[in-house]
Amino acid sequence: MTVPTACVVGWPVKHSRSPLIHRFWLKQYGIVGDYVIQPVEPEKIEAFFAGFRDGPYVGCNVTVPHKEAAFAAADEIEPAGRAIGAVNTIWRDGNRLVATSTDGVGFLANLDERAPGWDRTPGPAVVLGAGGAARAVIWGLLERGYAPIHVVNRTAGRAEALAERFGRKVTASAWDALPRLLPNARVLVNSTSLGMEGQPSLAIDLAPLPADCLVTDIVYVPLETGLLAAAKTRGLPTVDGLGMLLHQAAPGFRRWFGRTPEVTPELRAAVLRDMGIG
Ligand code: ATR
Repeated sequence: MTVPTACVVGWPVKHSRSPLIHRFWLKQYGIVGDYVIQPVEPEKIEAFFAGFRDGPYVGCNVTVPHKEAAFAAADEIEPAGRAIGAVNTIWRDGNRLVATSTDGVGFLANLDERAPGWDRTPGPAVVLGAGGAARAVIWGLLERGYAPIHVVNRTAGRAEALAERFGRKVTASAWDALPRLLPNARVLVNSTSLGMEGQPSLAIDLAPLPADCLVTDIVYVPLETGLLAAAKTRGLPTVDGLGMLLHQAAPGFRRWFGRTPEVTPELRAAVLRDMGIG
C-alpha cells in the first residue's frame, strides 16, 4: 500500500459508512491517506490481528463480530475500552497495538454538540437495552455524573450483569418498571435495536417523563425514530443517533492520520445524502 491506510474490519462489512466519513476528512484536510473496507471471516480474524503489526494498515475500526478478537489481540487497552469491555478502534504505537472504544466519547460528543449544556444538572438516567451499545452509553453517563442509571432490558440477566459490572450507581430493572422510573429521569436513552428500520418499533409511554428530560436514540436509520417522534410531540428535547456515528470516528482519525477532525454540518449532510436523506 503506498499511502497510510486504515480500514474497518468486520464480517460482513459491506454497508459500513466509515469509509465515507474518513475519506471526507482526508479530502477536507488535504491528507494523503485512505480508508478501506476489510472483510475478514471469523475463522481468519486471529491470524489477521496476529499479522497486523507487520501488515499494511496504520490502524483499524472493528465491528461485529470481531470486537472480542480485537480486545484479545491488543497489547494495551485504554481505560475507556476496559471499562466498556469492548474495543472498536486500534492503532499502532511502535510495534504495539493499542485499542480503545470510542463509542462512549462519541455518544457524549453528540449530545454536547446537539444539546449543549444537557449535562448541567445530572441525575437519574434510564437506559433501554443491555448490549454492547448500552455499555458505552452507561460509561458516558457515569463520566458526566449521572446516577442512578436504571438499565431496562427484556432479558433480566443481561441488565443484571451490567449492574454488577459498573457498580452500585447502575441498577437493573424490567420493562414494566418504566412508569415508576420515568418521572425522575433527566435523560432517556434507547440503546436497543428497537425502532431501527426492519426491526419492531419501540412502544413506550413517554407521558411520565419530566418536561425537560432529554431523549436520545442510538438508532439513526431512520433518523427520526418513533421514540424521537413521540418525544418531540411531547415537546421534549431530543438528539438523534447519527452524531454518535460521526463523533466516534474522530479519535481513530487522529491516531492514524495525526489530526483531530471536526464533525461539521457538511459531513453530516454527506452522510445523510448517502442514506438517501436530504
Ligand atoms: P449492541 O451491541 O448493538 O448493543 P446487542 O448486544 O445485540 O447489540 O443488544 C441489542 C439490545 O436490543 C439488547 O438489549 C436486546 O435485548 P435482550 O438483551 O433482551 O436481547 C435489545 N432488543 C433487541 N430486540 C429486542 C426486542 N424485540 N424486544 C426487546 N428488546 C430487544
